[in-house]
Amino acid sequence: MTQNTQQLIRSRNSSRWIHRLARWISPPAPLVMNPAEPRDFPLGRWNLYLGGAGARVPGYVNVDLVAHPGVDTVADVKILPFPTGLFTRVECDAVLEHVRDPEAAMREIERVLQPGGFAHVVTPFCHPLHRYPEDYRRFNIPALQAMSGSLELVAAGWRTGPTATLLAVVIEYVKLLFPGNAWRAAAHLAVGWLTFPLRYLDLILLRRPEAACLGNHCYVWLRKPEAGRPSPTSR
Ligand SMILES: C[S@@+](CC[C@H](N)C(=O)[O-])C[C@H]1O[C@@H](n2cnc3c(N)ncnc32)[C@H](O)[C@@H]1O
Repeated sequence: MTQNTQQLIRSRNSSRWIHRLARWISPPAPLVMNPAEPRDFPLGRWNLYLGGAGARVPGYVNVDLVAHPGVDTVADVKILPFPTGLFTRVECDAVLEHVRDPEAAMREIERVLQPGGFAHVVTPFCHPLHRYPEDYRRFNIPALQAMSGSLELVAAGWRTGPTATLLAVVIEYVKLLFPGNAWRAAAHLAVGWLTFPLRYLDLILLRRPEAACLGNHCYVWLRKPEAGRPSPTSR
């Protein structure tokens, strides 16, 4: 397991006082989620959550490259150990940028979805490097659409907007000015707390199509066609 993945998991789950303190004083995330992102696509008996190391995802089979509490199956998203057409819903949130061959991952998502099932794919577009365990590339909505194969696009948009991009870059930039992890952590605390109120500007900016030029994370909802059934109306 890489150090970044370990840190991600530790910061979420550890009950040691030092980690509890770090969670308590850490600034709010520099982002707000777009309230217009749809969430209400149906779940079924079997649902798949990709890349959920350290997270509890009730109702899903949680698959990750690393074995950790919360992970049900250790596997590479490019070679999923499940039969074709098993899952009603697949969640793939901030995983494809870490996969060397994201097209192969999308083909596996397409394969394991049942006809009529939905995949929710979220990826960063303008976002600093983050290695879990590696960070290969960025995607916008046309890039996700181009990889969707036979899956139909039923909804697409920006989850987090230009202000999230700006604040994430400023925080990483200021951290670069300081030597050593302790100074960088202090810079993160100071800049994070000072700048986070600006994140609410995205509630305005995310309504503008031009926000795509600095979008932070985008989403698509994709549906596997059912043979002989008409496509649903796009959102
Ligand atoms: C940025 S984290 C995703 C966080 C998670 N979606 C969430 O929002 O809490 C990326 C995760 O994808 C996992 N991952 C990276 N490459 C993978 C691969 N090829 N197959 C399966 N999981 C992978 C990493 O171990 C890590 O847990």
